[in-house]
Amino acid sequence: MKSLETERLILRQWEPEDAGFVLDLYSRWEVQQFIGNPPQVMTDLQQAEERIRVWRATDHPGHGAWSVQIKATGELAGALLLKSIPASGGSLPLQPSGDTEIGWHFHPDYWGHGYASEAAAAVLAYAFDSGLRKVVAVTAPANTASQKVCIRIGLVHKGQTGRYYNALCELFERTA
Ligand SMILES: CC(C)(COP(=O)(O)OP(=O)(O)OC[C@H]1O[C@@H](n2cnc3c(N)ncnc32)[C@H](O)[C@@H]1OP(=O)(O)O)[C@@H](O)C(=O)NCCC(=O)NCCS
Repeated sequence: MKSLETERLILRQWEPEDAGFVLDLYSRWEVQQFIGNPPQVMTDLQQAEERIRVWRATDHPGHGAWSVQIKATGELAGALLLKSIPASGGSLPLQPSGDTEIGWHFHPDYWGHGYASEAAAAVLAYAFDSGLRKVVAVTAPANTASQKVCIRIGLVHKGQTGRYYNALCELFERTA
């Protein structure tokens, strides 16, 4: 997976030693409240280590899971994901829809600086450079902060859909 660089950020592969940050990020309800169906906070370091193992094993061309690091300080700020999005369906596990979603999860200490949008714009550009024709993003209807990121990076709001995750979501998308 390719590392990416923006004016203020470095996006790189997750390392096993990032587990403490991953636990700090996903153990917070304010981060997790709009993620997952139903949302659940992470509770121990082993879950964080497992998450990193899964992220590092991503080998689909054009997909990726990046840690986002602030260049000036070296601190980790959040996560960017480019992955297959599951279709709604009757049985678990949900099957791939064939579409690729972009996603962002940032630590509250780093909200309100434009970091999520800066990182997401770089990953969206990477997606199209890698040959993807379409990228979607879905958010919970109440997740206005994430909807603003979608708009800032040029995704187009397509209204609500029940097509993914067995959930009613706001759908945003952009084609190459
Ligand atoms: C969604 C999420 C990443 C948005 O984070 P964010 O910091 O608000 O988003 P951005 O990086 O786009 O930052 C924009 C904000 O920074 C402000 N800002 C400050 N300095 C800035 C700069 N130099 N450049 C751009 N924006 C700047 C903007 O004014 C804006 O604030 P506003 O929304 O109050 O107007 C964050 O809320 C989050 O991680 N939530 C939990 C996880 C989640 O729900 N993920 C999405 C699931 S669909």
